[in-house]
Amino acid sequence: MATAAPSAASRIAVVTGASSGIGAATARQLAEAGYRVVLTARRKDRIEALAEELTKAGHSALAYQLDVTDRAAVDEFAGAFKTIGVLVNNAGGALGADPVATGDPADWRTMYETNVIGTLNLTQALLPKLIESGDGVVVVVSSTAGHGTYEGGGGYVAAKHGSHVLAETLRLEIVGKPVRVVEIAPGMVKTEEFALTRFGGDTQKAEKVYQGVAEPLTADDVAETITWAVTRPSHVNVDLLVLRPRAQASNTKVHRES
Ligand SMILES: NC(=O)c1ccc[n+]([C@@H]2O[C@H](COP(=O)([O-])OP(=O)(O)OC[C@H]3O[C@@H](n4cnc5c(N)ncnc54)[C@H](OP(=O)(O)O)[C@@H]3O)[C@@H](O)[C@H]2O)c1
Repeated sequence: MATAAPSAASRIAVVTGASSGIGAATARQLAEAGYRVVLTARRKDRIEALAEELTKAGHSALAYQLDVTDRAAVDEFAGAFKTIGVLVNNAGGALGADPVATGDPADWRTMYETNVIGTLNLTQALLPKLIESGDGVVVVVSSTAGHGTYEGGGGYVAAKHGSHVLAETLRLEIVGKPVRVVEIAPGMVKTEEFALTRFGGDTQKAEKVYQGVAEPLTADDVAETITWAVTRPSHVNVDLLVLRPRAQASNTKVHRES
């Protein structure tokens, strides 16, 4: 596979939500691909441990504690860089699986704040630095929930449609600038925390999500896809890439072995 080596000006990659799952795997793979990675998340101990692990392996990595919904903190973070090559907006997730009739408005609000406003905050704050690099990439990790709904998914689906629209609109608005806008939309990914967070720590409910599914996607599968899209030559923009496990034909059609 031909990959474009990061140029000097574009070699810093910021990954949000790098403390677990897809974000941690993406930070690892971008580091392997030659990027200097900046790991951000709220849980400092986890990103520090990963940065240390990557540094020991000979990569360049640093950890920066950041809540993507805190705009003042995001602006302060952005102020630390002259240029940025890659921004992976991965921080996010789902809360609850209640129907619209009984869903908690606070959960809906939090999901919108994290998945949409968090992405907006980072993208706005770092866009001038991505342009300055002369070869920037903004990645938005949306979801297949950003492209179709399912019962009990309302709040998450609404938020991920927001992430999708943000990516699509930004691509239109900055055409002509040296920045690609890539949306990666995964289906079912078995990460250690996603379903657990969704169900407030209820392990039984979390396990049920993946029950009988032969091989859900892994964090590495998604990280590889992100890294592949980012490392295409500068003129190749992967607008939208949807990936699902073979056992999942749609958000509502999943093959489960009993
Ligand atoms: N797993 C799936 O099936 C799946 C499918 C499609 C799309 N996705 C999307 O992929 C992304 C990663 O999911 P995952 O499966 O890797 O989930 P995960 O393991 O739960 O990771 C979520 C990450 O987001 C971070 N995060 C959450 N709120 C944050 C905030 N306010 N500020 C900063 N960081 C925050 C968490 O870090 P801290 O808690 O340390 O802040 C964590 O690192 C999410 O956007 C998710 O919606 C997941």
